[in-house]
Amino acid sequence: MISALTEETVAPATVNNSKIIVRKANMQDIPALLGLINGYAGKGIMLPRTEFELSENMRDFMVAWDGRTLAGCGALHFYSPTVGEVRSLATAETHKKHGVGRLIIQALVTEAQTYGLDAIFAFTYVKDFFAKVGFHEVERGELPLKAWKDCLRCPKFNSCDETAVMRVLKPDRWQARHAVPPVLGVEDGLVVILPTVRR
Ligand SMILES: CC(C)(COP(=O)(O)OP(=O)(O)OC[C@H]1O[C@@H](n2cnc3c(N)ncnc32)[C@H](O)[C@@H]1OP(=O)(O)O)[C@@H](O)C(=O)NCCC(=O)NCCS
Repeated sequence: MISALTEETVAPATVNNSKIIVRKANMQDIPALLGLINGYAGKGIMLPRTEFELSENMRDFMVAWDGRTLAGCGALHFYSPTVGEVRSLATAETHKKHGVGRLIIQALVTEAQTYGLDAIFAFTYVKDFFAKVGFHEVERGELPLKAWKDCLRCPKFNSCDETAVMRVLKPDRWQARHAVPPVLGVEDGLVVILPTVRR
């Protein structure tokens, strides 16, 4: 059972002869997380996060540590009783293409299964990576409307070039609940304006 305070959630993996520990994040991880996420945000490939946002959402996060170096991170954010989003997924430049991203996704999938989710999704520029770890491309209308709230503060709101990808964890339940695409506009009293997709 994954819990926020479990020290280690995934068996240590060896990457480049280093032992990578993947575990739930804690508050002491925040400075390193800010450095990793906002480094990529500065290049326009991830949404920036503040210390306040990380503190508020710290229970969503998994971290992968290689000794004293933060090798990667990722978060699972719940939107509904059935769907969650993979957010803030990043591997340090020094550790890319050595399986760290896959390890973090595995940890997030295990957590999603533990919580009984039917599916998890992500918005991404790296759909080929997500294809390698079991996700497929979906129409944006298949995602919960609340998932679009981050888009409102995205600089690319009027020319969104991210791809929506999903990994279904419980195919039967997903099919039964989502045979009819949701009507866009209002969900749980929240009015949602969808970003414009760049073609
Ligand atoms: C995307 C990212 C997390 C991948 O992390 P990683 O640790 O390098 O990925 P892994 O080494 O676990 O790769 C798993 C598989 O995906 C492939 N892969 C990794 N990055 C890829 C990419 N950009 N495009 C296509 N395939 C990719 C790997 O080759 C590997 O394939 P294999 O199993 O056939 O060997 C990392 O490149 C990154 O942090 N990018 C910048 C931030 C970002 O874009 N985050 C995503 C936000 S949604």
